[in-house]
Amino acid sequence: MKHIYTGKTKNVYELEDGNYLLEFKDDVTGVDGVFDPGANTVGLTIEGAGRAGLRLTKYFFELLNEKGIPTHYIDADIEKKTMKVKPAETFGNGLEVICRFRAVGSFLRRYGMYVKEGQPLDAFVEVTIKDDQREDPPISEDALDMLGILSKDEYKVLKELTQKIAGIVKEELAKKGIELYDIKFEFGRDKETNEIILIDEISGGNMRAYKDGKYIEPLELEKLILEG
Ligand SMILES: Nc1ncnc2c1ncn2[C@@H]1O[C@H](COP(=O)(O)OP(=O)(O)OP(=O)(O)O)[C@@H](O)[C@H]1O
Ligand SMILES: [Mg+2]
Repeated sequence: MKHIYTGKTKNVYELEDGNYLLEFKDDVTGVDGVFDPGANTVGLTIEGAGRAGLRLTKYFFELLNEKGIPTHYIDADIEKKTMKVKPAETFGNGLEVICRFRAVGSFLRRYGMYVKEGQPLDAFVEVTIKDDQREDPPISEDALDMLGILSKDEYKVLKELTQKIAGIVKEELAKKGIELYDIKFEFGRDKETNEIILIDEISGGNMRAYKDGKYIEPLELEKLILEG
């Protein structure tokens, strides 16, 4: 097993069979000790966050695979906090695709002149570039195509998959009386088939969820979804 990447919340290894192993850490993104799913820095370490994130990720990826949505997921080992996945090639150095159902976070910070906090948004999709130095700037469909990062045809697939997957997660949360405000995904091209697949994770660290108008922290969210 070869260590190939140290991320903010996961370590990435290449297995002998060519697949990747993602190891979930207890580090979560945020600023000055306060968790923020949109942040680009490790803000704090929460005991049990890695395992909770993996449990939720396993749950959602297995659900998506059952529904025939293409993902990188192969299997997961909760004890070891690892997940085996198919290797993917990222778009450029990586994109984040966000689906928004209510205006919070960076959307509200950017467009606060025109939206109220928590205003409903119709599964609005936006793409940002993974570039910590430039604070993950949003990028348009035209710019993605022009810069050779993602073709217009691929953008269509990406947007459709994003809305479909976000809809599935939203529905799952709704069953527990939880409302999904926004969620962030990563996609890549399957190294074998070139098909666009969902990669990375789906955990409390990638979404904002509310219950009775109150924000739910990632660890609590994991409990509510898997045990509640
Ligand atoms: N199937 C996959 N194939 C290739 N890369 C993947 C796959 N799944 C996840 N990744 C990448 O593995 C890394 C996981 O590490 P982590 O989530 O800690 O990174 P990050 O801190 O979010 O982002 P950064 O890449 O900026 O460090 C991410 O860069 C993610 O894009
Ligand atoms: Mg990440």
